[in-house]
Order: sequence, then structure tokens, then C-alpha cells
Amino acid sequence: MTIGSQKKLIGNPRPLTDHSLPFVSINMAMTADGKIATANRTVSTFGSPRDHRHLLLLRSKFDAVMAGARTVDLSPVNLGPGSSTYRSLRLKSGLAEYNLRIIVSGSGTINPEAEIFRHRFSPVVVLTTGRASRTKLKHLRSVASEIKICGAKEIDFAWALRWLRKKWGVTRLLCEGGGELNGALFAAGLVNELNLTICGKIIGGRTSPTIADGKGANSLAKAAPLTLKTLKRIGCEMFLVWDVSSSPA
Ligand SMILES: NC(=O)c1ccc[n+]([C@@H]2O[C@H](COP(=O)([O-])OP(=O)(O)OC[C@H]3O[C@@H](n4cnc5c(N)ncnc54)[C@H](OP(=O)(O)O)[C@@H]3O)[C@@H](O)[C@H]2O)c1
Repeated sequence: MTIGSQKKLIGNPRPLTDHSLPFVSINMAMTADGKIATANRTVSTFGSPRDHRHLLLLRSKFDAVMAGARTVDLSPVNLGPGSSTYRSLRLKSGLAEYNLRIIVSGSGTINPEAEIFRHRFSPVVVLTTGRASRTKLKHLRSVASEIKICGAKEIDFAWALRWLRKKWGVTRLLCEGGGELNGALFAAGLVNELNLTICGKIIGGRTSPTIADGKGANSLAKAAPLTLKTLKRIGCEMFLVWDVSSSPA
């Protein structure tokens, strides 16, 4: 299979009939001023215990959970299903007890000593590019289950997602950020759904990350169109689910 060039336009959702791709949902918590972490990336957990349960409940509905290199190595995340309560839910819906875990690291900078590699309950797949050096690949091979080169310089996400579906049986993929990875998925038109928790905090900071960073759209016509599906207020938080659709919101 050849790796094609990645689409650069935001708001170019794939045809709903493309069954070779997994269904992709993004789950993020953001502050009232639209930030997902402090500018120095040290603080990114500001949601309530309710929001954490929401994250685990969502994970229980997906074959795989994916995150970018900085999300994985700047905080002690394992991207796993959590306690037996959530693992039972997975089994009841016919999913594997433990979800597959995927890290995106285009130049292979993910720290091989990151917390995620200390938990061996399910395979960890790293999606990378030809930019990753031999040394970095060697270190990653010693900790990850599979390293997949998905492009020479840039990850071809459509190709990578098709490969994940074919090789690892991923039909439902949950992406948990960060902003750079989400931005690339939106730009490639590969996102079907956005789960967003708005939390009662202001972090501020011009360079604090948001739910979709990277290059972004340069006109409204290229913005990803969202349709609000559900909205629930619990305490000081709002839980929203948006469909990413081709029709204007
Ligand atoms: N509030 C929330 O819900 C939430 C959720 C997730 C994360 N966060 C926070 O957000 C911050 C991280 O976000 P971030 O945007 O800085 O980083 P990120 O997206 O997690 O990771 C960035 C790294 O991932 C790889 N990557 C991402 N997109 C790529 C692409 N299109 N092609 C190739 N590689 C790609 C690159 O790794 P290489 O350098 O190896 O190329 C890049 O340096 C952290 O503080 C994290 O804790 C908050």
C-alpha cells in the first residue's frame, strides 16, 4: 500500500460510507477560556472526578485509545481501561477487556521511560515517520509492541487509521489529545465526533494549548463543521457531544 499525501484542509470530513476507516471520537477537557493545559504543559488535569469517570466510561466503548507524544510523556497516563467496573462494561459490549493503546510520535521523541510503557496489560503501538532516527526507533522497539512508519516526513493519518483497522481490528478509535494531534486529525478530515467537557477555570496564556492546535484553518469555509448532539450541565461543568458533519452547523 502506498502512503498518499495528507489533506491539509480543515472541514473535509470523510464520506460516511468509508468502512475501511475506524469511527474516530476525540475526548477533551478544556477551561472556560479554551485551554487544555498551562503554557508550560505541567498542569492539564483540572476536571472533576465526574469528568474522570466520563473519560473512563468513554474508553469502555472503544477498541483503542490514542494520544500524542507530549500527552503521554509529560504526565503519568497509561491510556488503559481503568478498574474492573469499566473492564466489565467492555466485556459486556463484546470488546476486549483491555483497549489497544496508540501513541503518535512523528520524530520518535516519546520518552521510552514514560509511565505508559510500565503497564503491560495491552499492546502499545507507536505511529511514526521516516524522521525518527535509528537510535530512537531502537529504544522504542524495546518498549512498544509495534512501531509503524506512516509516512516519510509526515504521518498520513488516513493511511495509518486504515492500517490500524486492518492490522489491529480498530473499528472505534478514541483520541485523547493533545492539541497538536487533534489538529492534525481535524485537518485530515478524519474526526467523527468531539466529546468536550468545559470546566469552570481560567488558565490563560497566549501559548497554552487548545483542543486543536497546529496550523489550523485560514478561513471559516475551511473550519470543521460541528453539530451539537447533546449537552449536559453537572455542577460547574458542561459535557458536550458534537457530531463532525459535512453540513453547516
Ligand atoms: N485537558 C485535556 O483534556 C488534555 C488532553 C490531552 C492532553 N492534554 C495536555 O496537552 C498537552 C500536550 O498537548 P500538545 O499539543 O503539546 O502535544 P501532543 O499533541 O500530545 O503531542 C505532540 C507530539 O506528538 C507528536 N505528534 C502530534 N501530532 C503529530 C502529527 N500530526 N504528526 C507527527 N507527530 C505528531 C509529535 O511527536 P514528536 O515530537 O515525536 O514528533 C509532537 O511533538 C499536555 O500538557 C497534556 O497533558 C490535555
